[in-house]
Amino acid sequence: MQEKILVLDFGGQYNQLIARRVREQHVYAEIKPYNKITPEEIKENGYKGIIFTGGPNSVYDTESPHCNAKILELGIPILGICYGAQLIADVAGGTICSAGSSGEYGRTSVSVSENPLFKDIPKNSICWMSHTDYIKDLPAGFSVIATTDACPCAAMFDKTRNLYGLQFHPEVSHTEYGSEMLGNFLFEICKCSGNWKINDFIEQSVQKYRTELAGKKVLLALSGGVDSSVAAALLYRAIGNDLTCVFVDHGLLRKNEGDYVENTFRNRFGMNIIRVNAETRFLRKLSGITEPEQKRKIIGEEFIRVFEEEAKKLGKIHVLAQGTIYPDVVESGNGSSATIKSHHNVGGLPDVIAFDRIVEPLAELFKDEVREVGNKLGLPKEIIYRQPFPGPGLAVRIIGEITKEKLELLRDADAIFCKEMEQATVAPNQYFAVLTDLHSVGVKGDARAYGYTVALRAVTTDDFMTAEWTKLPYEVIERTSSRIINEIEQVTRVVYDVTSKPPATIEFE
Ligand code: XMP
Repeated sequence: MQEKILVLDFGGQYNQLIARRVREQHVYAEIKPYNKITPEEIKENGYKGIIFTGGPNSVYDTESPHCNAKILELGIPILGICYGAQLIADVAGGTICSAGSSGEYGRTSVSVSENPLFKDIPKNSICWMSHTDYIKDLPAGFSVIATTDACPCAAMFDKTRNLYGLQFHPEVSHTEYGSEMLGNFLFEICKCSGNWKINDFIEQSVQKYRTELAGKKVLLALSGGVDSSVAAALLYRAIGNDLTCVFVDHGLLRKNEGDYVENTFRNRFGMNIIRVNAETRFLRKLSGITEPEQKRKIIGEEFIRVFEEEAKKLGKIHVLAQGTIYPDVVESGNGSSATIKSHHNVGGLPDVIAFDRIVEPLAELFKDEVREVGNKLGLPKEIIYRQPFPGPGLAVRIIGEITKEKLELLRDADAIFCKEMEQATVAPNQYFAVLTDLHSVGVKGDARAYGYTVALRAVTTDDFMTAEWTKLPYEVIERTSSRIINEIEQVTRVVYDVTSKPPATIEFE
């Protein structure tokens, strides 16, 4: 059986990060909401260890998430982090109190004792604290193994039951020896061997789907984005041409993107791919529409119609494959998990097409792991390291009504910006051109011109939930602007967006 660690989710903001940190050490970790797994199920699943995550609550509040006390008695090592540590203390009979003005936030010096959790870690180092409560009285059987100036119990352990608690966050990079501490928990305490490798994942998945999907017709909506591309490549390796990919080109893609996706999958991989050129019908539906959410809705619905029509032509479909990845599946904290990705590209598909089963081959992987799989499967870097691109495509990058002329103009402007960015010394996480609905006066040649304003947007972000505008070198902006103005007749002005998110969103619509 594959060795694995259970990350029991109490609603903390770093829960996915904890699982990633564990997997980085080649131990498979899965996240479960605290109230969705019983002690019996934990036992049956054969977890080598359990990590209780942090969380925003106070354990002494009656409404706060708790765990079944039996979990502490299973004989499986447990590491509680922040709220998780306080919860262990509370459940085991200790006292948790508000730290009042002694709460700690940010980088803090910590001093640790000799303990398996701190093997090969210096006595004094820096950790990342973020807590308003603290463990006042330790439960019976526990002892303090780390302290800070303000926190009498920065870490504790119960040797007999193999229970550990850290008040600070080993998963964040600011904790100097955080990975080493997690590694010690995994290898010294849980006795993991660290044999989880992406290659094994690929091999196991290929074998599994080859057996399970033998003789079945499998359909996948390919967008050319990282997730659906990697899912397609993985399934193709397993079942070859029993997989059919439908690539709906809605005409709202970037310059040459449709051809690139088609070529990559059809010619380089030899996959069975149906490209539907549906630009005309999308543009017809979008004619006269200016409201962003309405654009999204129309595109989403039309996408389903097109996909449905193609699927019908194929006859009986047994299986629908989706590129759902782990962060899509796990919904932190509230105990619910979404099983089907409500993505703009494929939202609603399962309702309208008859099939026997959905497979989501990447549902256990994080984005960086998905990229690694893609890399191992030989997908080109251009696809693996692609920037996110919205399902509704350029429709949300053209303010106001969408026309073929505007789309072409924006594609050209965007291609110029992207080309110039290839030589830039900075690497924003997402950048693109936007066609605003602002017209302005300019002089082109010797004549007065009245043309479009193109906005350039570049952002730096970890998670796309918040983002900073990127300080692009002036030379890049200058060259891009000058090329756009010179090469695209209808544009008279180029501006650079200097708004972060929040308050602005990354896309303009
Ligand atoms: P915002 O504009 O909300 O964007 O700050 C955050 C990230 O999501 C992408 N995005 C979308 N992706 N369908 C998608 O699949 C959409 O309708 C959509 N709108 C925004 C955006 O490109 C950015 O990476």
